[in-house]
Amino acid sequence: MIHINIKEKEVPALGFGTYKLKDKIGAEAVSDAIAIGYRHIDTAEAYDNEEAVGQGIRDSGVARDELFVTTKIWYDHLKHDALIKAAETSLKKLRTDYVDLLLIHWPNKDVAMKEPLEALTELMQQGKVKLIGVSNFTCEMVDKAAALAPVACNQVEYHPFLSQQEMLKTIRGNDMFLTAYCPIAKGKVLDHETIKDIGAKYKKNAAQITLRWHVQQQHVAAIPKSSSAERRRENFEIFDFELTQQEMQAITALGSPEGRLVDPSWAPTWDC
Ligand SMILES: NC(=O)c1ccc[n+]([C@@H]2O[C@H](COP(=O)([O-])OP(=O)(O)OC[C@H]3O[C@@H](n4cnc5c(N)ncnc54)[C@H](OP(=O)(O)O)[C@@H]3O)[C@@H](O)[C@H]2O)c1
Repeated sequence: MIHINIKEKEVPALGFGTYKLKDKIGAEAVSDAIAIGYRHIDTAEAYDNEEAVGQGIRDSGVARDELFVTTKIWYDHLKHDALIKAAETSLKKLRTDYVDLLLIHWPNKDVAMKEPLEALTELMQQGKVKLIGVSNFTCEMVDKAAALAPVACNQVEYHPFLSQQEMLKTIRGNDMFLTAYCPIAKGKVLDHETIKDIGAKYKKNAAQITLRWHVQQQHVAAIPKSSSAERRRENFEIFDFELTQQEMQAITALGSPEGRLVDPSWAPTWDC
């Protein structure tokens, strides 16, 4: 496993995304992912699966302090008291005393970011959260947030077809890391000739090449989701080869601002 060192904590660069993995299937997927070797699990109050994720963690038998667990607060819970209550509900559902990373899931234009950032900082001071961060923040918002609180992460859509070069500069300049969601572009990388050709050299498929490309970048974590045990294992088998600088650049060159897959009505106006 590759780790990212951030604010004196170690973040496993490959994590397991759990969106749409609920109930018994969700719990089984999480405990299986941990058995495969994943040590970083991503959930959110909005995924309605924190109980299942908590169950999966307990079923895995792996000690809580060996895992890095992220959850997120939905954008209608960003007022101070609502955020504290939502975070406490998440801890209860996960049946854990703390999460390793708590994120603001989306910015809310009607709530100044100072308020949720202060609430997150309070939770961190109480030991209920080890690191705090944001998700779906623009470059301008990240700079502003970093000036207000010790944010460690921005979780954003990132894959070979969506360039995040400006965001990466912003993140690194603020001693933060970027967590890539939709890291394999919801499976769309599988058919791409350039990525497949690179894979032929290493006997890896395009998902594995893409995940390796993510974790070889400084301060980048990736959280692929799979409902299949076979694909979960496949996605973890990326630590026995290394891409050359040329291959890294060839994949980065596929990115453009038009490659975005997630752009709901409540999204901010993207600036990078
Ligand atoms: N912060 C946010 O706003 C936000 C937004 C979106 C997602 N996320 C997080 O990011 C995680 C990942 O994003 P995502 O699930 O949207 O996209 P993703 O991980 O890029 O892709 C998941 C899709 O690819 C398929 N897949 C996975 N591994 C594969 C493989 N080796 N070969 C072929 N197909 C494969 C999966 O199908 P199967 O399940 O059938 O394998 C699923 O349809 C989420 O689960 C969630 O935790 C966060």
